[in-house]
Amino acid sequence: MNTSVIGEGAVRLRIPFPDDSSDLPPSSTTVFYNPEMELNRDITIAAVSGFIDRARVDPSSISYADVMSASGIRGIRMASEVGTKCRLNDWNQDAYDLIQENIRLNALEDTCTSSHQNANTLMHQEVFDIVDLDPFGSPAPYLDSAARSTQKLLCITATDTAPLCGAHLKSGIRKYAAVPLNTEYHREMGARVLLGAAARALARRDKGINVLLTHATRHYVRVYLEIIKGVSPADTTMEMMGFIYHCFHCGFRSWEHGLAPELPSQCPNCQKSLKSAGPLWLGSIQEPGFCEVILEELEIRKHGKCKEAMKIVAFCKDELNIPTFYDQHWLCKKIRVSPGSIDTLIETLKDAGFMASRTHFSGTGFKTDADVEQIYKILHELDLQRKDHR
Ligand SMILES: C[S@@+](CC[C@H](N)C(=O)[O-])C[C@H]1O[C@@H](n2cnc3c(N)ncnc32)[C@H](O)[C@@H]1O
Ligand SMILES: [Zn+2]
Repeated sequence: MNTSVIGEGAVRLRIPFPDDSSDLPPSSTTVFYNPEMELNRDITIAAVSGFIDRARVDPSSISYADVMSASGIRGIRMASEVGTKCRLNDWNQDAYDLIQENIRLNALEDTCTSSHQNANTLMHQEVFDIVDLDPFGSPAPYLDSAARSTQKLLCITATDTAPLCGAHLKSGIRKYAAVPLNTEYHREMGARVLLGAAARALARRDKGINVLLTHATRHYVRVYLEIIKGVSPADTTMEMMGFIYHCFHCGFRSWEHGLAPELPSQCPNCQKSLKSAGPLWLGSIQEPGFCEVILEELEIRKHGKCKEAMKIVAFCKDELNIPTFYDQHWLCKKIRVSPGSIDTLIETLKDAGFMASRTHFSGTGFKTDADVEQIYKILHELDLQRKDHR
């Protein structure tokens, strides 16, 4: 295995690179290191640091486990930049060797421990305050053991966006025991299917959740779940499960809480048939106050991809707590008008007395409590105004 030493965040790290150093992807090396995920890691460091700071506890009293560590980068950064105790685990022998070398390289022998186990075995055997699940593809096979192991915070990355979003329907149903729909808000649908599966796994362990941050960036979804132990928080969490129903003809959508709710089959708007998705998470997916905490942490750190991270988290902070978003281009195509600026549309919705915001899920998306007919009316008016100004 060819390796070289790189810098990321405040640490140095020995990482592998493809043998002929050609255009091969990071997954082609025996130990995985993806420089593109620096953004994900920068947000993780800021989120965990903010979480510990907000709880007013000493970071050295907190245990963090990256149960699938690869080179060890996430945990090495966590120990060095936040100061938690860290467990770095990977079942791959080359990864395990590299993890040990990277702990030594950063002189973190006192705070970092390593192990060489199946992540599921580790999480069934040991508990950690913070568990980070960062698998190749779907986290679904690890949700049960992670729900058992985590005590305060659970961070999950899912790169299986096609099953989550409804593009690979049967795979999504198998993995998450939920029916996704491939709508224009499929990225949010994927996040809510993942959150729903995690919420159910935790509820089985009498743990409830408070979703602190959710972001869908590039090819993955990432969620941060504060754990609230007890039967009552677990019951409250289950009340946030439900179904979204959607009209593919006119764009109407609505939702219903519960695991066996009665869902309408006909669109109240255009009378065509409705399709439903779920069970999925209908509760809030961002905690604005916590997003503010992350933004402050990113502002202090400034390195790497912190600037890009701040843009994403700022959008997350401001997006309305509504379970779907509309896509301006989809709606405009439907009524044959040309789309204008998304900010103008949002301001016009607000002037008309509705709530409206942008969404980090899509540059052409917006969230609002206006229904689809009211939005169509406003889009027609804006189109007429633009024509009058020409
Ligand atoms: C996406 S990489 C982890 C990247 C790392 N967390 C980071 O931030 O760079 C996934 C890692 O999980 C390991 N892995 C996959 N399945 C595992 C399992 N069941 N138990 C332990 N490790 C596993 C792989 O060997 C691989 O190194
Ligand atoms: Zn309809």
